[in-house]
Order: sequence, then C-alpha cells, then structure tokens
Amino acid sequence: AVAVGLAAAVVVRRRMKKEGKWGKAMGILKEFEEKCATPVAKLKQVADAMTVEMHAGLASEGKSPIWVFYLQHSDEEGVYYALDLGGTNFRVLRVQLGGKGVGLVNQEFTEASIPPNLMTGTSDALFEYIAAELAKFVAQEGPEYKLPPGRQRELGFTFSFPVMQTSITSGTLLRWTKGFSIDDVVGQDVVAQLSKAMQKLGLDMCVSALVNDTVGTLAGGRYNNKDVVAAVILGTGSNAAYVERAQAIPKWHGPSKSGDMVINMEWGNFRSSHLPLTDYDHAMDAEGLNPGDQIYEKMISGMYLGEIIRRVLLRMAVETAIFGDTVPPKLKEPFVLRTPDTSAMHHDASSDLKVVDNKLKEVLEISNTSLRVRKIIVELCNIVATRGARLAAAGILGVLKKMGRDTLKDGDQQKTVIAMDGGLYEHYTEFSKCLENTLEELLGEDVFKSIVIEHANDGSGIGAALLAASHSKYLEDQS
Ligand code: GLC
Repeated sequence: AVAVGLAAAVVVRRRMKKEGKWGKAMGILKEFEEKCATPVAKLKQVADAMTVEMHAGLASEGKSPIWVFYLQHSDEEGVYYALDLGGTNFRVLRVQLGGKGVGLVNQEFTEASIPPNLMTGTSDALFEYIAAELAKFVAQEGPEYKLPPGRQRELGFTFSFPVMQTSITSGTLLRWTKGFSIDDVVGQDVVAQLSKAMQKLGLDMCVSALVNDTVGTLAGGRYNNKDVVAAVILGTGSNAAYVERAQAIPKWHGPSKSGDMVINMEWGNFRSSHLPLTDYDHAMDAEGLNPGDQIYEKMISGMYLGEIIRRVLLRMAVETAIFGDTVPPKLKEPFVLRTPDTSAMHHDASSDLKVVDNKLKEVLEISNTSLRVRKIIVELCNIVATRGARLAAAGILGVLKKMGRDTLKDGDQQKTVIAMDGGLYEHYTEFSKCLENTLEELLGEDVFKSIVIEHANDGSGIGAALLAASHSKYLEDQS
C-alpha cells in the first residue's frame, strides 16, 4: 500500500509540474495578448498621431515625408524599362506604350533574388549585380518593342528605401531599411551609383525617373483609374503615398503652387506612444540592423511578424520547456521563422494542425509537438497578425483623415481608391481580411462603402516605367 501511495504521489507531482508548465506558457501568451491589444479607441489615437505627423512632415524641411512631382501621363509612346529594387527580390520590366488613347501594349518582366551577402556588402557589388541582370534582360528585347527614333533606352528606377529626392532623376539615400545595410551608399545619389555600374558594363541606358514603390504604385494605379488617390505597400516593409495639393505643402518652394504632388510618407518610420509595443518588439529593435528606426514598420510588415513570434516562442521554450528540456537550437536563430511560414501555420484548417507540425519540423527542426503546443502557436500567429493588420488600418485612417476622405460630404458620390500592393497583403488572407474589417469598424459602414482597396499587382514597376516615359515627354515638350 505504501508503494502504491508513493507511485500515485509521483504521478500527481508530475502532472502538477506539467500543468505548471502549461499554466506558465498560457501566462506568457495571455500577457503578450494583453500588451498587443488594439481597441478602437487606441487605433483612433494612432490614426490622429499619424495625421499630426503628416502635417508636421509637410512643414518641416528636415523631416520626411519627402515630395516628388506628380506628373500627368496619357500619350507616351515607345519602349521603356523599369528596375524595381526594394526587398529580397528585384524585378526588371519592359513595357511598350502605344501612344494617345492606346496605353500599355506589351509588358514583360524578370525577377531575381538579391544574394544576401550583397545586402550588407558594398555599393559597387550591389549596383554592378543589378546592372548585369538588367543588361541580360535588355539583350533579350524582341522586335515588337520600338524605341522612339534617335533615342537612348530609358529606365524608371523604383528604389524603395528612404531617399531625399533632389530632382525627378536624382536622390540621396537617407538610411537603409528592411535588412539592407551598405554604408557607402548612405548619403550618395543612388541614380549616380546605378549609372556608374551601367556605364562600366557598357549598358547604354539612362534613368529618367527615380521613384519609391509607393509612388510607382500610385502612378500605375492612377494610369488605369483616376480615382486612385493613395497607395499602400504591405510587403517586406510598409509605406504609403498619397496625392496632396501643392498649396497645402508649406515647405514646397517650387515654381508653381498649383497642381498635385505625390507625397511619399515613409510611414514605416512612424512612432507614437500610442503604439502597443511589447518587450519582444523592443528587443528585436535593439538587436537589429537599424535600432530606433522604422518602429511602425517593425510591428506591421512581413519582414518582422515571424521574428516577433519566434521571440515569444523562444521565451516559452526557455521558461516553460514547452518543446522539452533542451531549447531547440534553431529557435535561437534570428529571422529563421519567416512570415510566409507563420501565415501558413495561421491558415492551417486541419483538425490536427498538420501544417503547423510540418512547419515546425521543416523550419525549426522541432518534432513530436502536442496538439496543445500547436494551438498555442496558431494563437500567437493570430495575435501578431491581428495587431499588425489593425495598426495598418489605423495608418490608412490617418491618411484618409489628412485627405478629408474619412467622412461623407453631402451628396458626395466620390470613390476613394487606394492602390495596395505587397506580398503580405496579397498572400496573408487573415491579415488582409482583418485590415479591411478594421477599416470598416473605424470608418463606419457608410464611409467604408466609398473606399475601394484595389490590389495593384506589381503596379510599382509599371508606374516607374510610366513616370520615366512621362518625364521624358515633359522634357521634350519643354525643349
Ligand atoms: C520601407 C522603405 C520604403 C518602402 C517600404 C515598402 O519602409 O523605407 O521606402 O516604400 O519599405 O517597400
């Protein structure tokens, strides 16, 4: 009887230990969820703070947002190229414009990934690699593409990093974002760097427009639909651009105070005391390549969502041993868990969470997890994606407020179209659904009906080619 009693006591103790472990893990999860909360009142404060920042940015010289000309286009003709550099991949595009009333006739593109060592190497290595890919693509130009007579091939350069634009064809890099860090480009004119690399390769081509991806997306969207007034990118990074009246820009000292301009907000660098930041966010920021920068982007964009989840899981593994007595070594690797992985886990609809199980094995080398652990992981994905999507919706509300499009005017039938692009928006359905639902929650049903979110598939590249074409036409008309 004594032996039986002892055995029973051991079982009970083990169970208590196990329950204790779950209790602790659930405690970490609960605490994280509370810190990530985004009630409507908080989102409205974030939106207001965003609007205030936008006003400040238009007035102060040193601050982003950064302006560019808004160019009209409709009747350009000929072959134009675009080069789109902004994340893990870059694209090269060729478009044939048919002239007045015809628009886009042909388009082709190729995509390549940037070798990770080039993202933190030297300026020459990066630009020479890009120029070489561009040269290969140009060499494949077919006879259906017609160069306007006597003209050099022209390129729209979509460079999706914070740039102080000095003209439509030049701009200096203010700082890198999204995992790039190449010191000798900062403060340099990125068009000059690219042109130097093209020259070295004997590629006879000139850059006719330097644009940010948000600006390219807006221009591309507006080419098809005149109601497009803003563009939002939710991809590796996040940013927005919108159309502003030149006269509403105190720091604009250009020749004309009339007409429209496109403002690249660089909203990724927005920060506010209203943002629900957790210890995990602070640690990720402090240990990253650009501490103190891009705080909003680090809460909402594709590069970071998976990393935040990894950090919470690591804490659980260390403090509660949910993955067993040793902490899985892979889980200690920064950025090993990517947002496409967490998105796949979040969308796992199987009753035994098979996708989660597979991802854990494949990405983190963790096997034999219980259903209970997998459920915690799905919940974590949900918390992080929900916070990101709701904060992104708050940012959009801020932009709508600045444009006076967050309310309905009497008898106003006007549509407000937002061109949206980026892998996070495109592929992470729970994220985009949550973003749209939150926007409706914030605006109310009636105003929400006047807002159209239009997916602009690779609008930024086409937009850059169009801007290159329209700038070149503008110069021609001036001469
Ligand atoms: C980062 C860049 C910004 C870009 C955005 C989306 O925030 O700084 O220029 O538009 O990512 O690609």
